[in-house]
Amino acid sequence: MTAADVRPQVARHAHYGALQFAPMTVEEIDAVVEIENAVYSHPWTRGNFVDSLYSGYQAQTLRDASNQLLGYFLVMLAVEEAHLLNISVAAAHQHKGLGRMLLDQSTAVGRRHAMRTMLLEVRESNTHAIKVYKRYGFSEIGRRKNYYPAANNAREGAIVMSLPL
Ligand SMILES: CC(C)(COP(=O)(O)OP(=O)(O)OC[C@H]1O[C@@H](n2cnc3c(N)ncnc32)[C@H](O)[C@@H]1OP(=O)(O)O)[C@@H](O)C(=O)NCCC(=O)NCCS
Repeated sequence: MTAADVRPQVARHAHYGALQFAPMTVEEIDAVVEIENAVYSHPWTRGNFVDSLYSGYQAQTLRDASNQLLGYFLVMLAVEEAHLLNISVAAAHQHKGLGRMLLDQSTAVGRRHAMRTMLLEVRESNTHAIKVYKRYGFSEIGRRKNYYPAANNAREGAIVMSLPL
């Protein structure tokens, strides 16, 4: 971990004003899971978040000036390759540029740790996220068939996307 990984960082947003990124703590997981359950059909569990924090993944939350949780991301750092495992914005705050801010912050973490690329998987049906990633500069590098669980015991494929850092 670098000092910058544990220090809260202020980010400016035209509508929200001063926002703060800070390392995700175990105490925050209940609030994180509340957002997670609201924005995914197959959300991560509380245990998934706890395990991720204990595994040492880079995880940060984004809060507004009144300390309301707006979003979060988790990144796994491997050799020269950062894997964006989770990126989420609270439902009421999507489409306002916060996802882009989370991408800015997560790619900055990757660069600070000398990662050369950022990888992610996204459901083939998640058109909003795919659009946000493409606009940000990610490109499709492959597909994983039946990667995600879907409704009625079905499976859904993932698009694998990559961004040079
Ligand atoms: C996918 C996700 C993280 C994207 O976050 P988001 O906050 O909705 O994305 P953004 O608002 O940054 O997306 C950019 C859009 O906001 C607009 N925007 C950017 N800055 C803005 C601002 N300051 N004010 C208003 N709109 C703004 C952009 O024009 C763009 O809209 P457009 O693509 O229609 O032109 C979020 O929708 C989410 O959490 N979805 C549910 C969970 C999920 O699917 N996660 C991804 C799993 S792979």
